[in-house]
Amino acid sequence: KKPPSRKGSMVDVPRDLLEQIAQLEKLLTVETTKLCEIVDHFVKELEKGLSKEGGNIPMIPTWVMNMPEGNETGKYLALDMGGTNLRVVEVELLGNRNFDVIQSKYRMPPEMKTGSSEQLWDYIADCLKSFVEENHESVEGEDSLHLGFTFSYPCSQSAINKGILQRWTKGFDIDNVEGHDVQPMLEAALQRKNVSIKVTALINDTTGTMVASNYTDPKTQMGLIFGTGCNAAYFETIGNIPKLEGLVDLPPDTPMAINCEWGAFDNEHVVLPRTAYDVQIDNESPRPNQQSFEKMIAGLYLGEIQRLIMLDLHAQGFIFERQDVEKLKVPYSIDASLLSQIEEDPFENLSEVEEIFLRRFLITTTGPERKLLRRLAELIGTRAARLSACGVAAICKKKGITACHAGADGSVFNKYPNFQERGAQALKEIFGWTEANPKDYPVKLLPAEDGSGVGAALIAALTLKRLNEGLP
Ligand code: GLC
Repeated sequence: KKPPSRKGSMVDVPRDLLEQIAQLEKLLTVETTKLCEIVDHFVKELEKGLSKEGGNIPMIPTWVMNMPEGNETGKYLALDMGGTNLRVVEVELLGNRNFDVIQSKYRMPPEMKTGSSEQLWDYIADCLKSFVEENHESVEGEDSLHLGFTFSYPCSQSAINKGILQRWTKGFDIDNVEGHDVQPMLEAALQRKNVSIKVTALINDTTGTMVASNYTDPKTQMGLIFGTGCNAAYFETIGNIPKLEGLVDLPPDTPMAINCEWGAFDNEHVVLPRTAYDVQIDNESPRPNQQSFEKMIAGLYLGEIQRLIMLDLHAQGFIFERQDVEKLKVPYSIDASLLSQIEEDPFENLSEVEEIFLRRFLITTTGPERKLLRRLAELIGTRAARLSACGVAAICKKKGITACHAGADGSVFNKYPNFQERGAQALKEIFGWTEANPKDYPVKLLPAEDGSGVGAALIAALTLKRLNEGLP
């Protein structure tokens, strides 16, 4: 399926809708100069996050202190609690940068995102237990299995297997977890269920992605997630992390992976081109004034931006005239995959978009309205891709990286039409690259290995190795 050429396709669109399209283009387009301004501010904020005083971006030292060598072996469990699914993975590291996995996915009931802490940990422990029972002969009395727990929320870490949840992100709002170490909570639930699993490493999906991708492609220096949330990890040296001064007694050139938690970039709202719709999403979210950058980029919010804009255009009398928009009024009723479908409708008359709106929202659309809707989806996706590129460029500038590979994962990166190309184009504008072919761009975002599974297992393996060698 190839989208039809957009050229000349606006001929039948009436003047008032064309004007609305032009206004949306103005509102949602991020020009090169703005990209550069954002990158400059981003670099300063990365530095601030590493300083003693701290800043908006948490820049969390993860205690992951080396990349894999490629010869790691052994069987490890990984648990991925991302934002949408729960996944249990058994990873067998085979050496030679090779591995085997067995995995099961469990639905994370949406109510659980705002339920109680006990419910959450019990559910996770049950999933782990049933996975282990299915895949191992005996659970009780066996030596503990080592688990890499991918818990992808901002956690302050004083050691690799500890993590105090700073605050929930991605729409989660469960009481009595913020401010607490999540490792003992999970281990207690596992004990209640008589499962001998030990949390060997607590990791972020970005750190896992960086490590897993480096395992198969040693040129990888960054791990990126563009999914339900949006974040990055990369390596610093301890000497460049002033906030660790006096807390660790290690040579300044010791490497330390940083979980940036860059979703929090510009929480003070000085540089991002936020629109009234972005402000509304923020105000109506469980955590206003947090994750400002993420709320303009991540999969959780892209559909919501489109929904709010459509409702506004309807209220002003531009679209869906005399239609009942009750169903469209349900918050978060459009997810990013629906936006992709709108953009990818291959038919000249956008009949798939027509069908979606009729079926999902009981709204009859006109041809010109559908053209506006598709252009809107394109603009929202393009803005997200261009803003994401600012974070990548900022890490490169901060570290002085002129060429590298970054392992990237997440539903938006993998499934959103043209996200990768649009991000690459923005990087080209920011750095002024002259290479004609995107394949030759010096900084490349490449589809990652499974960070939350294989990455978590690798980090568990690296942790045990360090412990055996008496390293910190
Ligand atoms: C949110 C989380 C972060 C995670 C990202 C991608 O930003 O706070 O920890 O890495 O989503 O899943």
